Amino acid sequence: MQDPKRYTITAALPYTNGPVHIGHLAGVYVPADIYARFQRLQGKDVAFVCGSDEHGVPITIKAKKEGITPQQVVDKYHAIIKQSFEDFGITFDNYSRTSAKVHHDTASDFFKKLYDDGKFIEEVTEQLYDAEANQFLADRFVVGTCPKCGNEESYGDQCENCGTSHNATDLINPKSAITGAVPTLKETKHWFLPLDQYEPFLKEWILEGHKKDWKTNVYGQCKSWIDDGLRPRAVTRDLDWGIPVPVDGADGKVLYVWFDAPIGYISATKEWAEREGKDWEPYWKSDDTKLLHFIGKDNIVFHCIIFPSMLKADGSYIMPDNVPANEFLNLEGNKISTSKNWAVWLHEYLVDFPNQQDVLRYTLTANAPETKDNDFTWADFQARNNNELVAIFGNFINRVVVLTHKYYDGVVPALATFSEIDEQTLTELKAYPAVIESSLERYRFREAQQELMNVARLGNKYLADEEPWKTIKTDEERTKTVMYVALQIASALAVLSEPFLPFTSTKLRNILDVKTNVENAIQWADVSSKSVLLPAEHKINKGELLFSKIEDSQIQAQLDKLAASKLANEIANKEVTPQKDTATFDDFTKLDMRVGTIIEAEKMPKAKKLLVLKVDTGLDVRTIVSGIAESFTPEEIVGKKVTVLVNLAPRALRGVDSEGMILMTETPDGKLVFVNPDTDGVDNGATIN
Ligand code: 2FM
Ligand code: ZN
Repeated sequence: MQDPKRYTITAALPYTNGPVHIGHLAGVYVPADIYARFQRLQGKDVAFVCGSDEHGVPITIKAKKEGITPQQVVDKYHAIIKQSFEDFGITFDNYSRTSAKVHHDTASDFFKKLYDDGKFIEEVTEQLYDAEANQFLADRFVVGTCPKCGNEESYGDQCENCGTSHNATDLINPKSAITGAVPTLKETKHWFLPLDQYEPFLKEWILEGHKKDWKTNVYGQCKSWIDDGLRPRAVTRDLDWGIPVPVDGADGKVLYVWFDAPIGYISATKEWAEREGKDWEPYWKSDDTKLLHFIGKDNIVFHCIIFPSMLKADGSYIMPDNVPANEFLNLEGNKISTSKNWAVWLHEYLVDFPNQQDVLRYTLTANAPETKDNDFTWADFQARNNNELVAIFGNFINRVVVLTHKYYDGVVPALATFSEIDEQTLTELKAYPAVIESSLERYRFREAQQELMNVARLGNKYLADEEPWKTIKTDEERTKTVMYVALQIASALAVLSEPFLPFTSTKLRNILDVKTNVENAIQWADVSSKSVLLPAEHKINKGELLFSKIEDSQIQAQLDKLAASKLANEIANKEVTPQKDTATFDDFTKLDMRVGTIIEAEKMPKAKKLLVLKVDTGLDVRTIVSGIAESFTPEEIVGKKVTVLVNLAPRALRGVDSEGMILMTETPDGKLVFVNPDTDGVDNGATIN
């Protein structure tokens, strides 16, 4: 859209059943924030809205698990999530929540209008029912095999493996997530949005209208759904947590969470407009508004097919201009998982890396999963900080600030004469806003950030070539010009970095004393249009380091944390061998177990797992063949106290008679360990009972 009059920028409403992690930030909130900040810097009218998604089955499940109410769950996580966004400088104009009255009213009214206009199909159908839990099994209350990709753990409404959105009754071998029972079918009335009726509109709007400007991953998913044929979709549920269906005869029914959540964008805009004394409607209903939805790839169908069909059914809304969905971010090669605690939680990051929000923002943008899934590694995080932020950006600014204070007491020197290289450097600098803008307008945030770093590179190269630290001894006038040019580059960086590195930008503006919201504040467009950003005689403030080196030990601590999560998971998921049949006391006393000492050990020839041991049992010294060669070398076990079952019937193993058994157990990663009672001071032959 050319020259929109205003921007409505939405970021997916996070579910309030847990805190937010780096995957959320990388996929949705950082790119959305970069875009919103960039438009505001250009003086554009922006409404950047988000809020907590507080309905839906995952919240009910979490409440059940923790033995608290759904309201307590959402209150807890709403506060944590909101704080994390603030801490990371995500500049929502409004962060609302779907339990707010304004949202309940807006979503109810939206439904009511469609209902009154006859846009729904009302139908009694058979739905999955858990007789044991006395409950219909909507959405995540049921798991089964995805009819499209065969994933055996697909949810009732969506398969996380292939992204398909389906009806719970489509699942093969469905099972209740509440009791594990196989559901029965029970009749119930629901309201359906006939998506099939919107196919012609969707074809024209997306398939014909946005082939060129939407990301290929987004366009591709839309095309595949539309080509597969759309079917009516239930927008109500038999649940007790959500927005009550606002029509007669709908007791015990609520709006489907994916019906109410996107309306949350509208309620958040209303709430903001009211607070600001503005009219919300142009932000959603005026053709000169650019509406954008920032989301992750699992939300594409809801934002490109279902929500637009709802808006179309209403008839008074505009359609999104773009839906720049990202793919997923993995962590150290594995899928980020809340349940497996395989994540970097934002609130925890800030404890370990206080005031280093920009380092994470920078790394996540540098690795943004824009066209394919991508991986976050702590080694890359350290390298990006140390080799890029510290060594390129920080180093340039530090040199400029230190030298300005050293040579001119912090006062911008008057330039003498520009040489060709000065002219060239300043011309190159002036081109950057347009270059960065072009990448941002195509939602290429990685590329845009690389261009920002190229501005710092330009500055470093200029200083390295012109060497003011040398010319100060020979040519004072030349040094002044060089420092003048370098200071212009530093000022440009203060502005251009704002969308990407907002905390750094603020620090830099403070150092250069070019704060925002003052009359002489430098704006985005000034970098290309003004010949002087920082005039001679302007005094800058004392410097401070913009970035500091991240040490290996800090990275190791993060890797250790992940390793601990992995181990905890393995232990939690390890299948415990079921208890054996009851043994009588007589059965037990038949076993003769003794303390013994291994006095010799050698490998059994041609047997990978076996060691041949000589064990002093106190009764005798006997041979025992033990399958422990993969866990121990012979040398390390000689002299070891062990527990021996001495009256086990002898048996021949590879031709060697084994006369007993050493008691062993196993660690979660499969290493054998001796079952070794505390036998200090106990003689060989002592019985164990
Ligand atoms: O996937 C999610 O986390 C959803 N809560 C996103 C909702 S976006 C919107 F439509 F509200
Ligand atoms: Zn699937």
